[in-house]
This record gives sequence, C-alpha cells and structure tokens, in this order.
Amino acid sequence: MKIIHSIEELRAWRATVGTVAFVPTMGNLHAGHMTLIDAARKEAEHIVVSIFVNRLQFGQGEDFEIYPRTLEQDAALIAAQGGVDVIFAPDEKVLYPKVIQQYQVEPPAIQDELCGAFRPGHFRGVATVVTKLFNIVQPNVACFGKKDYQQLFVIKSMVEDLNQPVRIVPVDTGRAADGLALSSRNGYLSAAHKLEATRIYHHLSRMKAAIEAGERDYERLSAETTGDLLAHGWVSVDYVEMRNALTLKPAAVSDHQLVILIAARLGHTRLIDNIEISL
Ligand code: PAJ
Repeated sequence: MKIIHSIEELRAWRATVGTVAFVPTMGNLHAGHMTLIDAARKEAEHIVVSIFVNRLQFGQGEDFEIYPRTLEQDAALIAAQGGVDVIFAPDEKVLYPKVIQQYQVEPPAIQDELCGAFRPGHFRGVATVVTKLFNIVQPNVACFGKKDYQQLFVIKSMVEDLNQPVRIVPVDTGRAADGLALSSRNGYLSAAHKLEATRIYHHLSRMKAAIEAGERDYERLSAETTGDLLAHGWVSVDYVEMRNALTLKPAAVSDHQLVILIAARLGHTRLIDNIEISL
C-alpha cells in the first residue's frame, strides 16, 4: 500500500492500473469507513482511499480546526484491513494552491434544506472537493455512506447532472451494538453523552415502527421526538423530517420509499442519523 501526497504521483500510478473504486474520507477512520472499503473491494480491481479534511465544507465556528487528523493511525488501520492500493492524502496547498477555490460546484436548492439550512455552503464545499477528487483519481466507482444521506443524494445527482463518469455505490450505515451510528464526531462525546446519543436511533426505530403500523401523522411523530430529545438535555434539535427516500422531497402519505432524517446537538456535538422505510 502506498501513501501518495501529490497529484502528479497519483496520476502516474492511475495511468498504470485498470478499474478503480474510490472511498473519499476526512480520515479518523472507524468501522463505518471500513464497511465502505469492504464494499469498494467488490466493485473494482484497485482501491483508493482519500484522506483530506476539506476546509471548504466547514462553516465559521464549526470544528475544522479541531477535526481529528490521525493519518498514521488511519494508515495502520487500512493496512491491517488489507486490499487498499493507495491512500491519497494531499496537503491543503496541493488541493487549494491559490487558497481560494475560484470555480466551485453549486448544488441546486437541496443544498439549503435539512443540514444545508444549518450549514450554509456545506454542500457546495462537498460537491466541489468531491469533483476535484474525482478529476484527480478518475475512479470507475465511488462509495458513499448512507449515514450522510443528503450528501449521498447531492453526489448522486451531481454525477448524473454533470455526466461525471463515476458510478456511485451507496453503503449502509455502520452502527455500534447499541445502535449509535459510527462517526468521527462521536469522539467529541463524553461517556455519558455517548450513551445518551443512542436516543436518536431509538427514536428513528420508534418512528419507523409506527409508520410501518400505519401512522401517517408525521408532524406528531416528529414533535414527539423533538420534545423527548429536548427533555433529555439535548441543546437543540435542528430537524426531524420525513422525506421521500428517492427525491428527498417532503414525504407525501402516498410515498412508498421514505427516509426519516434527524440532526440534533448534544453538548457541543452535532449528530446526524437517518433510517429508511419501504412501505
Ligand atoms: P467522512 O465524514 O470522513 O465520511 C467519509 C465517508 O464515510 C462518507 O461517504 C460517509 O457517509 C461514510 N461514513 C461515515 N460514517 C459512516 C457510517 N457509520 N456508516 C457508513 N458510512 C459512513 O463525508 C465526508 O467525510 C466528506 O464530506 C467527504 C465526502 C470525504 C468530502 O470531503
């Protein structure tokens, strides 16, 4: 396994190999990321994992400065797992040599909904860096987690709309035994908050069961969840929303494929999760 820092070296390697499956990450890898690597293995002859904490997708006052940068530990984890050919870990000045990224990829209105309403510019930053990484790595396939459901939706529609020659493979959310969705940001949580954080998955499961049993009052389900989180000391609930899983439009009672999405803050940590429902 090689660790490559420069675009030139990555391009030189890419020119010598066949099909590539790509797993873009910001590092501080956990078992959730590893499921993406497992999925990638089934899709192509070679695997590239990128590790880059992308300033462009962080808002003012967000955790860019403190986001854990653990390249050595990540490389050891990937090496132990096996099967990855290249870790692409560019410095900031490699991807953003002029500091300001002048041309950016502007997602449509979905970028201002759900997480986008609370993180202005976030999905523009994601779409832009993913496009740059696709242009550098030139993968045949790229794997993205359903954990970041809106991000997966933005990337899928970007690739389609811009005819980017990459097949997007969605990967199920990796969870701890207690249901908590694995996330690099869980590392910010105290032991007590880590236990409390499982309340999100508890409510996702509760709402899913209710909807499967015929409940269609989405507003009431959502208000119950918000109320319970706030009653248990959560600082704020950004949203609890039922959406059409395929279009991400607000769920209609006639929809068969739904997704419930939650974002809420526990202490200083913003957590997101979601659950799909097929009716
Ligand atoms: P990061 O948060 O490191 O996540 C990298 C990939 O891992 C994403 O596709 C994300 O959805 C997936 N992932 C994270 N936790 C997961 C879990 N518990 N189960 C399954 N997949 C999980 O997402 C980003 O980085 C960045 O926005 C990036 C796409 C790299 C662009 O900078």
